[in-house]
Amino acid sequence: MSHSSAINTEKVQLRACPTGLDPHRIPNHVAVIMDGNGRWAKAKGLPRVMGHRAGVESLKRTLRLCSDWGIRVLTVYAFSTENWARPGEEVNFLMTLFERALQRELESLQREQVRIRFLGDLNILPNGLQDLIKEATDLTAGNTGIHFNVCTNYGGRRELVLAAQKIAERSVKGELDPAKIDERVFASELFTANEVDPDLLIRTSGEMRVSNFLLWQLAYAEIHVCDVMWPDFDATALREALADYQSRHRRFGGLDPVPSALSEP
Ligand code: FPP
Repeated sequence: MSHSSAINTEKVQLRACPTGLDPHRIPNHVAVIMDGNGRWAKAKGLPRVMGHRAGVESLKRTLRLCSDWGIRVLTVYAFSTENWARPGEEVNFLMTLFERALQRELESLQREQVRIRFLGDLNILPNGLQDLIKEATDLTAGNTGIHFNVCTNYGGRRELVLAAQKIAERSVKGELDPAKIDERVFASELFTANEVDPDLLIRTSGEMRVSNFLLWQLAYAEIHVCDVMWPDFDATALREALADYQSRHRRFGGLDPVPSALSEP
């Protein structure tokens, strides 16, 4: 990620963009459901948790690639509100893994000008992890490079319910006229407030589900599902996802521009 501090300049984007991709149509925001860690480990005869450990390496690689290729926001699904249902040992391993990875990587995140934020219900995470999250968020808040959002104890429905509660409280207090509640107001109460919506959702390991991830924000995202297990996700897989994205016609519910011959009465 050596050039990431300069990703905001088109010059760097043009230089770093891999051949075969249009540097002018790199998505601003990529969201990723990092799936398949357990199956990756099983296929190698390893305990599931080794898949998560390899998943951290894949995440570091992906963040670096996104930054170097001019993607401005990367949002990943690290731990869902449903993941607490996994065996206690696996949950504990994941919490410790997040903590150690954050501790180890904080200096380089700062050096590379990454702005990291954790999205989700954070107050039930282990105290040590909460402290580190606060430290990392505060330290990197003013950074000018890629925005890296780590969804942790995150659930899309939970996020929508929390937003509705906050809006209702403001209305009850008389601060917000219910008639003035629109999409902008609603979006401003989500964890992703002030972030552009994802242009592209990537899901690894072949599963065709959204799994309670960014339910509001993904409204118009293009979806790319690949068979690669998350620990094996690499530059080739990311390039394929971006090429797939660039092959799509995004109409946002409208129509393609009508050829002039057809539009004349
Ligand atoms: C899904 O694979 C993966 C997870 C639930 C955990 C993802 C977490 C990481 C990759 C580490 C992130 C690290 C930091 C520092 C944020 P799975 O276990 O559901 O795999 P399976 O579907 O094959 O069982």
